[in-house]
Amino acid sequence: MAIRNVVTLGDDCLRKVCRTQMQFDERLWTVLDDMKDTMYHAEGVGLAAPQVGILRRYCIIDVGDGLIELINPVIVETKGTQTDNEGCLSLPGKFSEVTRPMTVTVRAQDRFGKNFTVTGEGLKARALCHEIDHLDGILYIDKANKGK
Ligand code: CO
Repeated sequence: MAIRNVVTLGDDCLRKVCRTQMQFDERLWTVLDDMKDTMYHAEGVGLAAPQVGILRRYCIIDVGDGLIELINPVIVETKGTQTDNEGCLSLPGKFSEVTRPMTVTVRAQDRFGKNFTVTGEGLKARALCHEIDHLDGILYIDKANKGK
């Protein structure tokens, strides 16, 4: 396990549409383990593969209730809205107000390829939306409320 370099705004990796992760093998697990170390070291609540230069559809989140690894995640349901400050490890020191769904349900695969569904509310919903956006080259600043 190791701490990886997190790319910052201006790096092309942050603007690519990532490809489906097809293999659930040691290579994936090593990156996931490194992403976990990297996220905790940076005291973030989420990290997406493109932020460590890997253009594949997976990300991790931990908003304080445990680590969740999401491979090929898809948002299947959203409810309500919330508006709050949001930041990103790829834009260190910056925050903007972003409106997100209050509740989201995501379908994904775990590190072994097994399907699961997770529902998050509040910060967890925000983190899920933020990280899944990364997989499509979308940053929170693209969605930040005007004038903030
Ligand atoms: Co981010």
